[in-house]
Amino acid sequence: MGANIKRIAVFTSGGDAPGMNAAIRAVVRTATYHNLHIYGIRKGYEGMINGEIVRLETRMVGNIMHRGGTMLKTARSERFRTPEGRQAAYESLMAHDIDALVGIGGDGSFTGLEIFSKEFNIPVMGVPGTIDNDLYGTDHTIGYDTAVNTAVEAADKIRDTADSHDRLFFVEVMGRHSGFIALNTAIGSGASSVLIPETHLEIDALIKMLKKGVKRNKLFSLVIVAEGNANGGATEIAKLVNEKFDHYDIKVTIIGHLQRGGSPSSFDRVLASRLGFGAIEGLLAGEANVMCGLVNNKVCYTPLIDAINKKKDPDQDLIRMAEILAL
Ligand code: F6P
Repeated sequence: MGANIKRIAVFTSGGDAPGMNAAIRAVVRTATYHNLHIYGIRKGYEGMINGEIVRLETRMVGNIMHRGGTMLKTARSERFRTPEGRQAAYESLMAHDIDALVGIGGDGSFTGLEIFSKEFNIPVMGVPGTIDNDLYGTDHTIGYDTAVNTAVEAADKIRDTADSHDRLFFVEVMGRHSGFIALNTAIGSGASSVLIPETHLEIDALIKMLKKGVKRNKLFSLVIVAEGNANGGATEIAKLVNEKFDHYDIKVTIIGHLQRGGSPSSFDRVLASRLGFGAIEGLLAGEANVMCGLVNNKVCYTPLIDAINKKKDPDQDLIRMAEILAL
């Protein structure tokens, strides 16, 4: 199948992630190296439906490696969820004789790719680009490392003011369904506790832990909260804690979309380059309907359906370690 591929289109979809540009650059340059015609689709599936498809040349992806965001822009598309939307997208691709697709995004984007490839029998390749790191079949997703670095830098600054005022801060990081960013931010910033969607921590247990800290002369504390907890985000949790525990003056900081922007870390640039390169070489070798990921530092291909449906949870040993180191 791979030998028949002559024209590939690449797009970014869902939430942007630092490193997406580096992945686009790698896709374009690897495809050009193999004498393929490479096209860029603007605004994800929305642009595919609207026919916003442009030819990309190697020089057009120069000077983007270090930039956050995505030069192709991105979107979350409701229309692509409908058969009519996907039919319109297919017709746009056929107008440019596109043989294969590379989609850079997260699980929602991959669900679209998987359905589309089955409906229209077109080979697709997913490249994991999301700050959430919640995809099975890769140890890291593009953008995750940068997002954690941004959150740790913010937490360090909050620590200074928390220390000066002897306050308790609840710091909310992104992750609607996933606690990777929160857990690694907590470890990296030396927080007192972390609340993640995967392990439900009761408010009473959190208060007990904070009281122990007071007994050990902790004058201030930072608690990292993933936005998607069963008890709610940082604002709700701070309120619940404050109702039963008034030892500290409590403050809340929501880091929010700051985590999605900024220049990608060197780790994300290298990861994105390897996965963009691997995506094209994989398609040419006959890999289709898979995600190109990195497991144990080796590029590998996982069926899209597994990348979407199989669950990758934060490491239990890391969760235990974070608790012990916060003593
Ligand atoms: O999936 C990436 C992510 O940044 C999540 O962590 C967050 O919950 C969501 O996107 C926010 O999406 P939006 O920018 O569309 O509000």
